[in-house]
Amino acid sequence: MVEEKYKEDIEKAKEHFAQLVMEQLERVERLKNESDWIDYSTLKPIIIGFIGGDGIGPYIAKEARRVLEHMLKDEIESGKVEMRNIEGLTIENRAKVGKAIPDDVLEEIKKCHVLLKGPTTTPKKGDGMPNIESANVALRRELDLFANVRPVRVPEEGIDWVIVRENTEGAYMLGSKGIEVTPDLAIDFRVITSQGAERIIRYAFEYARKNGINRVTVVTKANVIKTTDGKFLEIAERVAKEYPEVEWDDWFIDIMTAKILDPARRKNFRVMVMPNLYGDIISDEAAQIQGGVGTAGSANIGKRYAMFEAIHGTALRMVEEGRAKYADPVSMIRAAAMMLNHIGYTDKARKLNMALDICTQYERKITITGRSDGATTEELGEYIMNTLLDARLEERWKAYTEKISS
Ligand code: IPM
Ligand code: MG
Repeated sequence: MVEEKYKEDIEKAKEHFAQLVMEQLERVERLKNESDWIDYSTLKPIIIGFIGGDGIGPYIAKEARRVLEHMLKDEIESGKVEMRNIEGLTIENRAKVGKAIPDDVLEEIKKCHVLLKGPTTTPKKGDGMPNIESANVALRRELDLFANVRPVRVPEEGIDWVIVRENTEGAYMLGSKGIEVTPDLAIDFRVITSQGAERIIRYAFEYARKNGINRVTVVTKANVIKTTDGKFLEIAERVAKEYPEVEWDDWFIDIMTAKILDPARRKNFRVMVMPNLYGDIISDEAAQIQGGVGTAGSANIGKRYAMFEAIHGTALRMVEEGRAKYADPVSMIRAAAMMLNHIGYTDKARKLNMALDICTQYERKITITGRSDGATTEELGEYIMNTLLDARLEERWKAYTEKISS
């Protein structure tokens, strides 16, 4: 009966689904022939693209750019590094052309090697804007930035986490391609491929190995979401065998959100790897424990491209209320440090992180509240810059670490 009544709807849904399956199978074939990792040391110049974004984006991106320009002064002068402005990835322009990333902007982006990007607005249904896909999600897909790496540290509490979020599959991959079969029935799709799961899990174990970390925690909901999360976990079991020196365990996402609040347990987590949406949620929660989403940077890493950004959104409310100039730039500056590290300037990255630790976790001579009772974005940027320039930087940082360990 139902079959008769909804015959046309069912046919349309089947066709839609067949199309998605085909696209994903094509993607799997591409993943099987993936290229090797890019080697930044052989590039001249390494091209860094800047994208201001929307809302508070341009305000906080400006501070990060200032720091980077200072730290890479010699490299820019000698032609080893080139900095470029990428215009047009704004919500106004994206809404105008009705695309997550306008074609000409994507073309410019693809000429760069790494990107520093401010947050971009993602319209949701009913916002009164064209319901275009998130620019983030589209960029991660277009540039195949499969590893979303989000470090969170609270040294006083022994917290030193690295959240490794799968960035190109899960609930996000087809998040804009669900079906409204009838006005009463909406279905979304969630994708895990063997290749996609393996490369992110391997990334997490490699990260642990390279950084001398002996624990990887795999987070799923494999007891309920059996097919996709089941595959993710199964692949983790297999890959883990190749890293006998790294202990690993697996947790379900619900209890994980509780346990990272448990002071007795949370110190034990180190590298955590998980499918896309779980990583989105856990990383905001973790960042809040560190002092707020405005404090955390995020790296989106692929074999050819990499993009560095804040973990948070555009905070349009701050702009509407005239508070954009009080936005916390630390997330973007942390992202800049991750970029320096990624392209091979590990010592510069270390120094920048030291300056950030001193200014935001140790001395806190000025603090940001997001309102006029706190420092401005520019003032905090200035403080970080002066700390970075201080010849006593290492000493000041040492005083901090000694205080924590005593
Ligand atoms: C993030 C953000 C994005 C995401 C939004 C802006 C689409 O929350 O980077 O975590 O959900 O991935
Ligand atoms: Mg998020």
